[in-house]
Amino acid sequence: MRKSLIGLLAAALLAGAALVPVALGTAPAKAKVKVKAAAKPVVLDGQTLFRSNCGGCHTLADAKTHGRVGPLLTGDDLDVPSVLYMIENGDGVMPSFIDTLDAKQIKTLAAWVSKATND
Ligand code: HEC
Repeated sequence: MRKSLIGLLAAALLAGAALVPVALGTAPAKAKVKVKAAAKPVVLDGQTLFRSNCGGCHTLADAKTHGRVGPLLTGDDLDVPSVLYMIENGDGVMPSFIDTLDAKQIKTLAAWVSKATND
């Protein structure tokens, strides 16, 4: 009986102690949640990714882009590995996108570009 009472007291004390930092931390915790909610969703659409990352330099009919810095990609018959290579490594004027896009975006984009250049 006595033991369980002490146990209860200890539990109540612990709960009380746990409440203090929670109460003190209320404002910063709320601020964090807001930042997360405002974060942009990760784009995982090949055409959208191409238009925003590649279209300024490349012309590709399926993306309706008209860039003239890099080679024309319309009808270029590119396979996925070579597009992946270019996105990850760049070449000369073309930058690498390894730090700009995440692995999923790079895969999505390479698959989409390969398909779009083989139409
Ligand atoms: C700053 C301009 C620029 C941007 C942005 C750019 N590229 Fe390029 N790209 C180039 C240039 C220039 C080359 C030619 C490189 C060379 O051969 O020296 C090239 C080459 C390529 C090639 C090889 C084409 C071939 O026929 O061999 C592919 C594929 C390619 N780019 C895809 C992309 C993709 C996908 C993106 C977006 C993630 C992209 N590029 C963004 C300038 C750019």
